[in-house]
Amino acid sequence: MKLTVNLQEKSYDIIIEHGVLSRVGEYANLNRKVLVISDDGVPKQYVDTLLSQCPQGYAHIVKQGEGAKSFPVYQELCQKLLDLNFSRTDCILALGGGVIGDLSGFVASTYLRGIEFIGIPTTTLSQIDSSIGGKVAINLDDVKNIIGNFYHPSAVLIDPDTLKTLPERHFVNGLVEALKAGLIYDASLLTLFETCDPKTAIDQIIYQSLQVKKAVVEQDEKEQNLRKILNFGHTLGHGIESVYGLKDLLHGECVAIGMIPMLEDDALKQRVLQIYQKLGLQSDIAYDPDDVYAVMKKDKKVQGDFITVVKVKEAGHARLEKIPTPDLHQYLKSINPI
Ligand SMILES: NC(=O)c1ccc[n+]([C@@H]2O[C@H](COP(=O)([O-])OP(=O)(O)OC[C@H]3O[C@@H](n4cnc5c(N)ncnc54)[C@H](O)[C@@H]3O)[C@@H](O)[C@H]2O)c1
Ligand SMILES: [Zn+2]
Repeated sequence: MKLTVNLQEKSYDIIIEHGVLSRVGEYANLNRKVLVISDDGVPKQYVDTLLSQCPQGYAHIVKQGEGAKSFPVYQELCQKLLDLNFSRTDCILALGGGVIGDLSGFVASTYLRGIEFIGIPTTTLSQIDSSIGGKVAINLDDVKNIIGNFYHPSAVLIDPDTLKTLPERHFVNGLVEALKAGLIYDASLLTLFETCDPKTAIDQIIYQSLQVKKAVVEQDEKEQNLRKILNFGHTLGHGIESVYGLKDLLHGECVAIGMIPMLEDDALKQRVLQIYQKLGLQSDIAYDPDDVYAVMKKDKKVQGDFITVVKVKEAGHARLEKIPTPDLHQYLKSINPI
């Protein structure tokens, strides 16, 4: 399956193909210097499969986890590119989940003011969502993605076979982004979750989710307006993730919690809760509203004294609502008094 993200001169193809990991040369020029960036949780055999296709291939493996999206690791990678004399015509392969995609893309966007990178996502979250859209970033202190860029890969190669080694919890974590895509834009995705086993329907789930993201990003690449709907569940989710995520919760798990209060229809809420139950996702958590609010105030979606939140009343349709930031504090207290 192939999708093309149409962004004039920055357009690129997304290939969804079993076994594409061992056929990267069919879609990208590997006859140049290539740095494979990955982390130590990604099976080494995937790194070796890529390196075996690159005559001038190098690998840099960082420690797995959100902590890799940091200035020290960013600097380490830039230093590696410099030491290896990478030029603008060379290339980075980002092999891993959303952490590796965000980090490698940010490195690619800034080294020499931009070198080519190809996304090879290996988690459900990155195959369904984070590998397309051009948002690349690292974190600073406890604020996620606060240092970043819009920078697109030259191609994204998705091999669903890589998901076979992904731990179950991470598999489910990524499915939350597909549920989000369904809720904001494509109600049939929701039905797919209700009627199918996600493991057997994973190719279709990836394809339909990427279609949603592609459609939204093509209409609003730099998040002036429509693209904000992709943040559904993320405003609250990011707040929770920043406060608790590094300890216990994954990105998708936080987004799952963040989506529930933003559903404006009880019947729809019940449908979503049933899907959570089927997937084994929790729908709420006791959090300290003051801590979460403190982080949310630094969110990129805050403009002056207002913050834009995304709400869904009917499956497949989202709306934006600009609310005074202090109201959000009150709201957080009211939905989660501890
Ligand atoms: N740029 C965007 O648009 C965007 C969108 C959503 C999320 N994100 C970011 O994505 C990140 C989360 O991504 P994630 O959930 O993929 O987490 P992750 O990148 O940390 O990967 C999860 C874990 O799975 C391991 N792993 C990866 N592939 C594997 C495989 N095939 N088999 C076995 N283990 C494997 C990794 O080593 C890691 O330990 C967050 O930093 C979030 O901010 C970015
Ligand atoms: Zn997300």
